[in-house]
Amino acid sequence: MSLSQPRRGDAGSVVADPTGRVESTAADALVVFLAEGGAGHGAAAEIDRVSGGLLSRLSGAGELSGRRYDCVPLFAVPGVQAAKVLVCGIGKADTADAGVLYRAAATAARQLAGRPRTAVAFATERSWTNGHVEQAVAGAIAGMVGQDLHRAEKRRTAFGTTVWVGADADAVAGGATLGDGVNLARRLVNMSPDELYPESFAQEAAALAARTGLAVEVWDEARLERERCQAILAVGRGSIRQPRLVILRHRGGGGTSPALALVGKGVTFDSGGLSLKPSDSMLTMKCDMAGGAAMLAAIGTIAALELPVDVVAAIGLVENMTGPAAYKLGDVITARSGTTIEVHNTDAEGRIVLADVLDVVRGLAPARIVDAATLTGSCMVALGHDVAGLFTNDQACCDAVAAAARTVGEPVWQLPMYPEYDEQISSDVADIKNVGDGRWGGAITAAKFLERFVGGTPWTHVDIAGPAFAEKPRPWTDGGATGCMVRTMVELARSLAR
Ligand code: BES
Ligand code: MN
Ligand code: ZN
Repeated sequence: MSLSQPRRGDAGSVVADPTGRVESTAADALVVFLAEGGAGHGAAAEIDRVSGGLLSRLSGAGELSGRRYDCVPLFAVPGVQAAKVLVCGIGKADTADAGVLYRAAATAARQLAGRPRTAVAFATERSWTNGHVEQAVAGAIAGMVGQDLHRAEKRRTAFGTTVWVGADADAVAGGATLGDGVNLARRLVNMSPDELYPESFAQEAAALAARTGLAVEVWDEARLERERCQAILAVGRGSIRQPRLVILRHRGGGGTSPALALVGKGVTFDSGGLSLKPSDSMLTMKCDMAGGAAMLAAIGTIAALELPVDVVAAIGLVENMTGPAAYKLGDVITARSGTTIEVHNTDAEGRIVLADVLDVVRGLAPARIVDAATLTGSCMVALGHDVAGLFTNDQACCDAVAAAARTVGEPVWQLPMYPEYDEQISSDVADIKNVGDGRWGGAITAAKFLERFVGGTPWTHVDIAGPAFAEKPRPWTDGGATGCMVRTMVELARSLAR
């Protein structure tokens, strides 16, 4: 069972050396993590000892700060076999959680992947849990892949071999699978929207299913008609690319109904439709299927890890365009659930697509639904670029998502769902309209719209408009797709399997 396609995005081989010593590990480069306050313990102390106090002297001279994501290369370190030691700062030791280790490992890997390397070693610390190891391994795999997809001369080259010294073999294997999952989501988001459209996304999903043993169903236009998915069809009507709905199943738990349903927004390109976006806002709208990519990659990873839990994923795929048949302002759509939607803005398309996807999934009687969607610019106004918004009709469900996010170190923040917000989406002519009154609380009114389609099922909506796509490089990434929420969803499934 393999997640990554061998022909691209592969991370070389990633292995553990549980009993190895950092100083005697043969590698082109050795990564050592350093907390603020010097090389007092762990691998850094070991390097310090064999080198006759080199790290202590550099710390004393202010050359090694341990500041978060600061990487300092040292060459020909006495007593160390690796030709190069990269000392990577993780900040204050007590705040270095799984998220910091993911990003620190990604930062080091990104720098080292600037040129081809046969073997790179990473030193783990005894204080790390296996969960920490997993996230660090995943981070390194994400860091060595950039956004080179469409570039002849690549800027990043994956290492031939990565060795995790002092790490548990199962944790390293799990982390490698997770890292492949993150990179799968990133690859799909980074693909040009001319290449990745609903049908080709569905083909990617079918190929992943074949590789990982997932059951897969793809609903084409005819099936969507038969299933009364008029909301999905309406949004798709302006494009020559037909919409699709992809349903994937992992049967690991042997139950009768899924413990978890993952729903993703898969708008492969969002022009805004007739409520056309300005050019600047449209440029990055290939990222509007990032929720769908995250859920696809998550269920693929869950299958590859063979987690003992029943999970279903459903992804609504459309291209939001302005063709002659495009849906219009004032149109009233009857969604699959029977609820009627008055269209006030064709750029609020994600919630319309998700209306039908949520209704389909609800019919599968899952214990809980979690959706991920690049749903609103308002959520970015509220929370910025790095934090995803959480919205729920069931606090326990939301707490489980937040706990999983905390475990892997993906920042999330819950926003309120007071009933008063419902008034904003009431329509003069239909059951609801697809935007609120004005732009205030726009992330919440969008969530309120989705809530109408989950019935009583415990549900949490994750708005990833901010964290899905990095417009500029950061220390741990070249920019572009981040693969956000893959790690959280896998962790959530794992927490439900226990
Ligand atoms: N896909 C966008 C939201 C988005 C914005 C994602 C920026 C990533 C980055 C969504 O379909 C959209 O256009 N939302 C509108 C809704 C509005 C018309 C009510 C928005 O947020 O402006
Ligand atoms: Mn839109
Ligand atoms: Zn959109």
